[in-house]
Amino acid sequence: MSKGLFITFEGTEGCGKSTQIKLLAEHLQAIGHRVRTLREPGGTPIGEEIRHTLKHSHANTAMTAEAELLLMNASRAQLVREIIRPALAAGEMVLSDRFYDSTTAYQGYGRELDLNQVKSVIDFAVGETRPNLTLFLHVPSEVSAERLRSRQSTLPFVRDRIEEADRKFFERVAHGFGVIAAGEPQRVKFINGARPADVVCASIWEIVQPLLPKVGRW
Ligand code: TMP
Repeated sequence: MSKGLFITFEGTEGCGKSTQIKLLAEHLQAIGHRVRTLREPGGTPIGEEIRHTLKHSHANTAMTAEAELLLMNASRAQLVREIIRPALAAGEMVLSDRFYDSTTAYQGYGRELDLNQVKSVIDFAVGETRPNLTLFLHVPSEVSAERLRSRQSTLPFVRDRIEEADRKFFERVAHGFGVIAAGEPQRVKFINGARPADVVCASIWEIVQPLLPKVGRW
C-alpha cells in the first residue's frame, strides 16, 4: 500500500499552478516531508522527449488528436512506473503539475475525442495509481489569457503547438475541467486562482494539512 500522498494540480494556461506547487513543496519540506515535484507531459527522460514532440518540435504541426492522446499517455505510463509508484512506496509527497484530468479536459473536451475511449486510454496508462487529491485552480478566461500574454512577453519566444489552438478550444477545456470538478467533489477541490498567490497558497494549505497525518511522518 502507498505510504505517500499524491497531489495533482490542474487548470487552464496561466492559472498559477507552478507558483502554487513551489509554495506547497517548500511548506511540506519545512515541516520535514520528502517532496517530489513533477510535470506532465514529461517528468522522465522519455517523457521530456515526448513533451518536446507534443509541444515544441518543428515536425509536430500535422499531429492528430488521437496521436496527441496516446503520446500524453505514453509519457504518463512511463512517469507512473518510473517515478510515481516508487516515490509513493517510499513515503514521499508527490506533487504533479497536471495529470489525467488534463487529458480528459484537453483531449476529451478540447479536441472532442470520445470520452469513453479517452477514459480507457487513461486507465491503461495509470492502472491503480490515482491522485489522493486534485487541486483545480480556476481563473476566468481573461485572467488566463492575460497571464499567458505577459509570460510570453517576458520569456524568449518558444513555439507551443497546444497554445496555438483557438479560443473555442480553451473554452471547451475550461468547461471540461468544471465538469470533472463537479463530478468528483471528494477528490477534486476547486480553488479560486485569481486571488493573490499568498491567499491561494493559504487556501491550499487548509485542504492539504488535514490529509497529512494519514500518511504519517517517517
Ligand atoms: P504546461 O506544462 O505548460 O502546462 O504545458 C502542458 C500542455 O499540455 C498544456 O497546454 C496542457 C497540455 N496537456 C494536454 O493537452 N493533455 C494532458 O494530458 C496533459 C498532461 C497536458
